Amino acid sequence: MNKYVIQGGTPLSGTVTISGAKNAAVAILPAALLVNGTCRIENVPNISDVCLLVEILRDMGAKISYLNANTLDIDCTHVRDVESSDELVRRIRASYYLIGAQLGRFGHARVALPGGCNFGARPIDQHIKGFEALGATVDLNNGFVCAYAPENGLRGGRVNLDVVSVGATMNIMIGAVLAEGTTIIENAAKEPHIVDLANFLNAMGAKVSGAGTDHIKVRGVRALRGGSYSIIPDQIEAGTYMVAVAAVGGNVLVRNVIPKHMDCISAKLREMGAKVTEYDDAIRVQRTGLLRRANVKTMPYPGFPTDMQPQIAVCMALASGVSFIRESIYDTRFGYCAELNRMGASIKVETKTAVISGVAKLQGCAVRACDLRAGAAMVIAGLAAEGETVVEDVEYIERGYEDIIHKISGMGGSIRRMETAAELSIPAAV
Ligand code: EPZ
Repeated sequence: MNKYVIQGGTPLSGTVTISGAKNAAVAILPAALLVNGTCRIENVPNISDVCLLVEILRDMGAKISYLNANTLDIDCTHVRDVESSDELVRRIRASYYLIGAQLGRFGHARVALPGGCNFGARPIDQHIKGFEALGATVDLNNGFVCAYAPENGLRGGRVNLDVVSVGATMNIMIGAVLAEGTTIIENAAKEPHIVDLANFLNAMGAKVSGAGTDHIKVRGVRALRGGSYSIIPDQIEAGTYMVAVAAVGGNVLVRNVIPKHMDCISAKLREMGAKVTEYDDAIRVQRTGLLRRANVKTMPYPGFPTDMQPQIAVCMALASGVSFIRESIYDTRFGYCAELNRMGASIKVETKTAVISGVAKLQGCAVRACDLRAGAAMVIAGLAAEGETVVEDVEYIERGYEDIIHKISGMGGSIRRMETAAELSIPAAV
């Protein structure tokens, strides 16, 4: 298992450039299955979730070539109507987008139930509700989702989501673009990556409107042609590095961002005492004084993102006073708190709330990444802590953060990747 070795205590400085949005890319790549022609997709993040989806699509006969590390040509003209490897599919949650894409392309789908980070129950009942609204029949058999369109294909329908679901909103949109007639998605999620998927589909000839609102309309078209598209910057990666500067201290220009997408995170960092300055496509974060306590309740966009919850907790662990985090999206997403407490944090978890009493400093020690964003929080904590921190199970982190070692080193942070279990000179956990 790979590890990161981090020497903490150095303020961050310089610049960091944000990559393309992971949660847009993992929907856009499966959606390319719907296109007869070549999709040139730019600003694709070079992360393991994307590499896995490329492997799955290639197994189906997609012709995929890399013009550079972040630009792909994907031609699904001659994809075969074959099942995706369930060993690969089960590794990431975003595999569920293959259901909507295969339904739309072939009229049926058989996809293993998805894997992904474990935050408690993560059902896909809203996805199924949407596909049924398009006329499909959907069964769950032996760990597979089996969906069948009617004889003459999917037809437009109306679906009112019982839960604001990013995945269901995008999956239904993917299934609806080639359906006969118009589809309405009510109570849709509004995340930036949902707008990005809609813009990609429209660039290929679809007719999606209302993305970014809770009412999305998809007018079915007969076919999608090839075209070009560039993925938006990653809101969560940008937020992670902004929070890192606030937690560790320093002065960093975060480049290639859409400031509007960062509003909730920028506001929270200002509330906690950081200086946040917005430019057209960049944000500067500075923090020299003490961090102030704050409260966060995770909400669907434009509220505070659940994917930023572990990261902001590190700021709170070092703030003066008692802060509260209420996790309202998932059953449980506080696994990282025990790891932070090993570093000297003082966090109590009560059901869906974390009570965080700020401490003067964190001590470096061996910790593990419980999931993707928890792993990012461990890296931030290691950069802020005194001494050396070793983060284990970093494969989680590399699912969603492109080139994190170079990006952090470029800001003056001391971090290196260790690929073997070498003798470590770290103090026992406090
Ligand atoms: C997406 O997951 C993201 N993953 C998650 O990011 C993110 O945390 C989440 O959206 C919320 O923003 C990808 O985009 C690949 P949901 P998703 O459907 O689609 C419940 C990361 O760190 N629900 O919006 O699975 C669900 O249990 C990852 O990048 C149902 O009840 O999230 C949850 O409580 C982690 N039935 C809530 O809705 C359903 O059919 C929101 O889930 C679907 C979801």
